Amino acid sequence: MRCSWQLRRWRTRVLKGICLLVSAPALLGQESADFFRQNCISCHTIGGGRLTGPDLKGVSQRAERDWLVRFLVNPQAVIDRGDAYAQKLLQESRGVVMPQISGMNPARAEALVDLIDAESKQEKSQFIGVQITDRPFTAAEVETGRQIFRGERSLKNNGPACLSCHTAQNLGGLSGGQLGPDLTRAFERMEGRKTLAAWLGAPATPTMAPVFKKHPIDSEEILPIIAFLENQAAGGGEDLSAGKLTFLLVGLGGAGLMLVVFDLAWRSRFRSVRKQLVLSSTGRGEE
Ligand code: HEC
Ligand code: HEC
Repeated sequence: MRCSWQLRRWRTRVLKGICLLVSAPALLGQESADFFRQNCISCHTIGGGRLTGPDLKGVSQRAERDWLVRFLVNPQAVIDRGDAYAQKLLQESRGVVMPQISGMNPARAEALVDLIDAESKQEKSQFIGVQITDRPFTAAEVETGRQIFRGERSLKNNGPACLSCHTAQNLGGLSGGQLGPDLTRAFERMEGRKTLAAWLGAPATPTMAPVFKKHPIDSEEILPIIAFLENQAAGGGEDLSAGKLTFLLVGLGGAGLMLVVFDLAWRSRFRSVRKQLVLSSTGRGEE
């Protein structure tokens, strides 16, 4: 009786112990995964190709662990020391130096390298990134993107409409907010579909990050937004060409054309005013 009770207690202790052993690294792992998702996926995939920064799959086979930890803690300092590997990385990233990530310290860096190692062994890492199609976007996708941009179609996770802070061309007469940059050429600045998709999934800039961390843009919304931005960068369809035409007319005709137009407009207005006067004086103006 007593013996089995003791056995049971012993067993719970062992179970608890095992539980702790298993869950502690798992918890740490989860914490690193969250940290990676919030701070790294805008520039890196693990097994999904390079974005602004290199694909991190198998990075421990390319660089010493010690080097990686030092680099994560202070990228600029390691780049400045200018060893051949750092030079090569910098060149491949066209001179973009990885920013120092806030909250980074040696322990966290170690945990992140562990995470990258573990994810590199997966056939398909959870950090493979947004896989965006190469095919041409359809007109419907561009239009959906425009509606999302203008806020006519609300974002699934209740993020604010892009228009409240950004403008772009071809918004059909609306002009947007000025807090953020004009996005007409953002597609080129953000280096195309893949980088833009990753960036929109976790914007890592001072204003966008806090706003969209709580209300992430859904992966299904990213495609039409990119379709819209790509279309903008390519010239943006009808509205824009109409804009170009007016510009051309004004340029060509100059003041003379304007005078003729105004003259015509005034004359017809004058006529209609006179007509009204005539009508009302004959008592038929109310019709
Ligand atoms: C703004 C973009 C950006 C962010 C955010 C970023 N990195 Fe980087 N990362 C880079 C670039 C660019 C390089 C290439 C080296 C250089 O030019 O500084 C790099 C290099 C690396 C390397 C070395 C890669 C190699 O092939 O040896 C590792 C590891 C790394 N980053 C991990 C991370 C981790 C982990 C995070 C998140 C905590 C992160 N990076 C966040 C841009 C970024
Ligand atoms: C609360 C205001 C705000 C909203 C809403 C907002 N943005 Fe931004 N966005 C900014 C600001 C400000 C920047 C400049 C970087 C920063 O400070 O975050 C920016 C930067 C960007 C950039 C990088 C542009 C570049 O060329 O550097 C893109 C792309 C972008 N936003 C897309 C969007 C999209 C798409 C939406 C709608 C889903 C959106 N933003 C909604 C404020 C906003």
